[in-house]
Amino acid sequence: MDIVPLDFAAEPGRLAEYHALAAGWMAPGPRMPAPLFRLVAERGWRAMPAETWLALDDGRVIGGVTVHLPDRDNTHLALIRFLQVDLAHRRRGVGGALLAHVVGRARAHGRALVLVEVAEAGPGEAFVKAKGGREVATQARRVLDLTGFAAPEREVPGYRLEFLRGRTPEPLVADMITLMEIMNDAPLDDLAVEEEHWTPDGLAAMEDAWELTHQDVFTVVARADDGSPAAFTRLFADGREADGWGRQTDTGVVRAHRGRGLGRWVKEANTAWLTRARPDLTRVITWNAVSNTHMIAINEGLGYRLLDVWHEWELRV
Ligand SMILES: CC(C)(COP(=O)(O)OP(=O)(O)OC[C@H]1O[C@@H](n2cnc3c(N)ncnc32)[C@H](O)[C@@H]1OP(=O)(O)O)[C@@H](O)C(=O)NCCC(=O)NCCS
Repeated sequence: MDIVPLDFAAEPGRLAEYHALAAGWMAPGPRMPAPLFRLVAERGWRAMPAETWLALDDGRVIGGVTVHLPDRDNTHLALIRFLQVDLAHRRRGVGGALLAHVVGRARAHGRALVLVEVAEAGPGEAFVKAKGGREVATQARRVLDLTGFAAPEREVPGYRLEFLRGRTPEPLVADMITLMEIMNDAPLDDLAVEEEHWTPDGLAAMEDAWELTHQDVFTVVARADDGSPAAFTRLFADGREADGWGRQTDTGVVRAHRGRGLGRWVKEANTAWLTRARPDLTRVITWNAVSNTHMIAINEGLGYRLLDVWHEWELRV
């Protein structure tokens, strides 16, 4: 077996083999369409340095690993995005060889820790334990059945809602950065992760990536009567291969505006908008830290039900 780097531009055939192998990483959640998979593997939403290494047997891809190497914040980390071995080639040391290779690459890049998210029920957990991993955070995935979804009529006095589909219009960029940086308040459990900061260029690059990967992005912002941004939430659906799935990502309420029901209001309104705008969707998936009890209470109130549990593991380099 050889471990070789994937050249995304020059090797579309190998990229397609890797996609076929790894796109089910999130099963039973949504499968990543090829453009989205390529974006995540090649550079991620935040356009960061990344490497993909493939395990080849007789020229066939039998395993692969993608690692992101943040270069703005969190430069002590190497983040594994996919690590997958073909079913027919498991328990022969391929996964161990790929992981050892990535740990070596992390060391070469001066990283102190490798982080990887692993489903609780799958083989990854025994694997990462056998490799000396330390569990540092727990996340749960929940799914909302959209077929019976109806949002109650709601107002929160002193606030109004704005609906944005796709890119952030220029006059709203500063507000959007304020809102997105609230995500730094989300619980981290024992994760050794620093705050992420955004610039207008960084935001534009992420939104370019939405367009490149055909993402249909729905954002609802709650604005206080004095004009200040107070809360936001965001839903994604693939524009071409949604396969019935929407994805709930960030939700945040600015500290001074918490405790007034804004989180629930923006989520309900956005979900109702999604169901009207995208009648092809039947369900939405979301992730939360298990310790994020407020967000989980809002989600369960909306009708989200538990799908599965994932742990994040840390390996010292
Ligand atoms: C996890 C995964 C990458 C392991 O790949 P692999 O090539 O089978 O792993 P290895 O053969 O190198 O296994 C190394 C050790 O991990 C442990 N291990 C791996 N799979 C295991 C399983 N299903 N049950 C129990 N222990 C397991 C064992 O200690 C094994 O050593 P042994 O075979 O000598 O007992 C593979 O099962 C996979 O692709 N799973 C789905 C994706 C996933 O969970 N990725 C997360 C990886 S952190």
